[in-house]
Amino acid sequence: RRHLLLGGAAAGLGAAGMVGAGALLGGPAPPAPDGPEPHGAETVPFHGEHQAGVETPPQAFASFLAFDLDRGTGAEGVRRLLRLLTDDAARLTRGEGALADSEPELAAAPARLTVTFGFGPGLVERVAPDAAPEWLRPLPRFTEDRLRDEWSGGDLLLQVCADDPLAVAHAARMLTKDTRAFAGLRWVQDGFRNARGALPEGTTMRNLMGQVDGTVNPAPGTGDFDRLVWGEGEQGGPEWMRGGTGLVLRRIAMDLDAWDRLDRTGREEAVGRRLSDGAPLTGEAEHDEPDFAALTPLGFPKIAEYAHIRRARSGDPGERFFRRAYNYDRSGPGGQDAGLLFAAYQHDPVRRFVPVQRRLDELDLLNEWVTAIGSAVFAIPPGCPEGGFIGEPLFR
Ligand code: HEM
Repeated sequence: RRHLLLGGAAAGLGAAGMVGAGALLGGPAPPAPDGPEPHGAETVPFHGEHQAGVETPPQAFASFLAFDLDRGTGAEGVRRLLRLLTDDAARLTRGEGALADSEPELAAAPARLTVTFGFGPGLVERVAPDAAPEWLRPLPRFTEDRLRDEWSGGDLLLQVCADDPLAVAHAARMLTKDTRAFAGLRWVQDGFRNARGALPEGTTMRNLMGQVDGTVNPAPGTGDFDRLVWGEGEQGGPEWMRGGTGLVLRRIAMDLDAWDRLDRTGREEAVGRRLSDGAPLTGEAEHDEPDFAALTPLGFPKIAEYAHIRRARSGDPGERFFRRAYNYDRSGPGGQDAGLLFAAYQHDPVRRFVPVQRRLDELDLLNEWVTAIGSAVFAIPPGCPEGGFIGEPLFR
């Protein structure tokens, strides 16, 4: 699968794209391209009020890396580590090599690279024990969860995203090198969406169950998003997190073989939407508002009581969050190992995310085929200005 995926991404660039990439690195001038324009040189600003990688239109590839701080890494060590990582992340996202980069050529096509930092409870504890937001702790236990340590927790998260898997791999390696004197790698979770250019920009992604996934989501740039995700206008919470948010990352395994055995009607009823285009079972187009009161001629709800979208929608508009998921697939001779890296961003996960997860835990037909096997909660600090570093206000 992985081999096919990489092949597909390269094919997507086309011959002209390859020549263009050569030009980026100072190679010979390319002949007039007749394929799509290469987009490897595109960059997303690293510095700013908020960290990049949340509002950023999702790049095709993601790698989530969690680290555990070494025993001997105290507050001063954390500060040095964050300074190092910030500087290198800023350079790499600009398309420059990291400070001690022995392969700077691999940094030359960042392809909208973003690096987003997340702090687990353990990191905040080392720096300022009383400064953690109240919600920065593992989620409560849910009966349907089958969590494994190997995919859960962590002191420091680096979320590395780009439209080119080579850019992701190189950045991940350079940043991991920076951590060596301070922390050890706890887990890595790689994910993908469609290769850029395979579908029109802005198309809602599909997950590996084939569903259109991400339709109902707060829209970046709106007041709604700013309130739900960045906590604008909200009271309380520590000062150092102003302009930041919270991430709940769940590794959710899918039993695709069992899913394949369900007929199409059953699959659509489990979610409450059509597989062909993601339209609600009561509508015509993807973004039509579902009619949860509509009945079939026999008097049954058109969107079943157990349907995922009915259960996931809360009557409280504060119980919402921004979903920015990635697929994963590590299936091989050992069997199927595929699912969703479910990434939900919100100011205060305990208030916004937990009630929804609780409802789904109680009843959601999708639970027949999906199981959370990893879970982690991180504080995503605000962005930093040039010359600063991510998390600096925590040290004041
Ligand atoms: C909606 C799939 C897990 C919360 C949807 C939709 C699909 C879907 C196909 C409809 C299209 C859309 O609006 O995006 C899945 C799959 C999951 C999963 C395959 C697991 C592998 C979760 C979890 C949560 C969640 C863990 C939160 C705890 C939501 C919400 C919506 C939604 C809030 C929008 C509901 C609305 O219409 O208001 N999901 N989902 N989902 N899902 Fe999930």
